[in-house]
Amino acid sequence: MTREKDASGRGRGDGEAKSVRAFRVLVIHGPNLNLLGEREPEIYGRIQLRDIDRELKRLGRELGLSVDSFQSNSEGAIVDRIQKARNRSDLILINPGAYTHTSIAIRDALAAIAVPVIEVHLSNVYQRESFRHHSTIADLAVGRIMGFGAEGYYLALRAAATLLSTTMAAP
Ligand code: DQA
Repeated sequence: MTREKDASGRGRGDGEAKSVRAFRVLVIHGPNLNLLGEREPEIYGRIQLRDIDRELKRLGRELGLSVDSFQSNSEGAIVDRIQKARNRSDLILINPGAYTHTSIAIRDALAAIAVPVIEVHLSNVYQRESFRHHSTIADLAVGRIMGFGAEGYYLALRAAATLLSTTMAAP
């Protein structure tokens, strides 16, 4: 999953030497997801975050994507990371954890940058408390995947690969 553009964004046909780079996907995990494996395993499963991130990297290589992961318990740090992604990432895959339901700051950061977003949740939030039914980012997301545990991240990465190759490939 590569595109024929050099670092300046020039596409094929510009009459210059071309380099091919992988699409870059940034994965953001919100608060308490660092405790996966020990945190409410009956809801979130026994897999640890580092194992999810390792599999995302591996799958990314298979799909031709370069994958970076970031976790923070702090809303401001997540906003900073989203801002930093605006010139560096082709797509953001995000599980904002509890900030999904409360954070206008994370929504505003995602709205401020022209980077497509896929929202992921391990659990099916609609089977849970009603305060989890609202997402501040749902309408900004290209798509949302939830209820499949860790598999949801891998499904989202496959969706990202398809989306990027169909919408951002050089003509
Ligand atoms: C979650 C669902 C949220 O309601 C919760 O606060 C989380 C995890 C999920 O992945 O299912 O921290 O985003």
